[in-house]
Amino acid sequence: MKVGIIGSGGREHAICHSLKKSNKIDKIFCFPGNAGTSDLAENVDINFENFENLKNFIIKKQIDLIIVGPEKPLVEGIVDYLKKFKIKVFGPNKIASKLEGSKIFTKQLCKKFNIPTAKFGIFETKSEAKIFIKEMNYPTVVKADNLAAGKGVYICNNKLEAEIAIDEIFNGKFGKAKNILIEEFLYGEEMSFFTIHDGKNFKNFGTAQDHKRVLEGDKGKNTGGMGAYSPSRLIDDTLEKKIIDKIIKPTLNGLSENGTKFCGFLYTGLMIVENEPFLIEYNVRMGDPECQTILPKLKTDLLDIFEASCDGTLDKINIEWIDKKSICVVVCSNGYPEKYETNIEIKGLDKVIQNENNLLFHAGTIKKNDIVYANGGRVLNFVSLANDFVSAKKNISYSLETLNWSKGFFRKDIGYKVIN
Ligand code: AMP
Ligand code: GLY
Repeated sequence: MKVGIIGSGGREHAICHSLKKSNKIDKIFCFPGNAGTSDLAENVDINFENFENLKNFIIKKQIDLIIVGPEKPLVEGIVDYLKKFKIKVFGPNKIASKLEGSKIFTKQLCKKFNIPTAKFGIFETKSEAKIFIKEMNYPTVVKADNLAAGKGVYICNNKLEAEIAIDEIFNGKFGKAKNILIEEFLYGEEMSFFTIHDGKNFKNFGTAQDHKRVLEGDKGKNTGGMGAYSPSRLIDDTLEKKIIDKIIKPTLNGLSENGTKFCGFLYTGLMIVENEPFLIEYNVRMGDPECQTILPKLKTDLLDIFEASCDGTLDKINIEWIDKKSICVVVCSNGYPEKYETNIEIKGLDKVIQNENNLLFHAGTIKKNDIVYANGGRVLNFVSLANDFVSAKKNISYSLETLNWSKGFFRKDIGYKVIN
């Protein structure tokens, strides 16, 4: 079989690495992939936002299955588009992707189906929003409605900060804003809960906790994710049942009332407040870097799981996991998430020990004449699996010392809640 993966991050390298273990796959194409995927697959330098060019390539090369990694093409309807040409594709359709593409769509669904979430207001103008924030308790949360690569959320400590957030969003910092969302700040601990869906059935796909802030102690600017560990320390059978019964099942009912079904990965971003789950956000894909901590623990053939999701037969498959803890530490270019340099050589990658428990997934890298260069903000993902988090973290520290890349930085405290 030939498989194509859309995306270029650590998540897509991890997907590529897992798929490579399947003996049913002859060839993998990555659109466009990175230096890491180029060792496992053929990287294709094609702009996947041009659906037509992508479709022509898929048909020409007779690719049997397409996996969509990132949210943007999903929200723009790549699944609906490719399916029109009878191309098999793993991921949710355009309507279901509104769960991530529009925070307001999700909030309205929560309201209608009594899904626990922070109290909120939706406003169409600056003036309405500014009247509302006069009455709020602080901190309060101001959110852009549309996709903003994790940056359209402001935690505001006072009225002035909230006014600035409202102005920035309505002035178009994250694209044209028709609405704004203002919500109550929830005090609790975050958790990422993953499920995989086939339109009728769904199965759990692990839990994780990521570290979104750039600085140690969870301080500083929000990023795409500086590291993660799996499983989350909060999960147990009681909490899992609450998440499924109070959040996921009503969401699927809500989608069905909107005339659609969910296929693909669903990433439920939660705040756990005194053992009760509250929905913070949905993402319609795997998390990055959460994916890098979850997939290496998968025992079942990932291709079989993707095919079952496309064919509506997930109920027939038993998803098995290695019972280990895992951690991922992300190495970023100096300056990230603000300005950083690109085209910087990374030496010494061949010295880093890699085996089934110690993995190195690339993100913003590119290979030219066998030399690897950093060309993105998040560059490398060091992952380790062990019987306990302390050992996993030690293995990663050893790999990071071996690499000793002076042009990059990483958070030394990833996993501090499960290690100290
Ligand atoms: P989102 O993009 O909606 O996941 O928000 C980004 C981050 O902002 C989340 O991961 C949380 O850390 C934080 N956040 C968002 N909404 C809230 C809330 N209502 N209360 C507390 N923190 C929040
Ligand atoms: N790790 C956060 C995300 O993938 O959105």
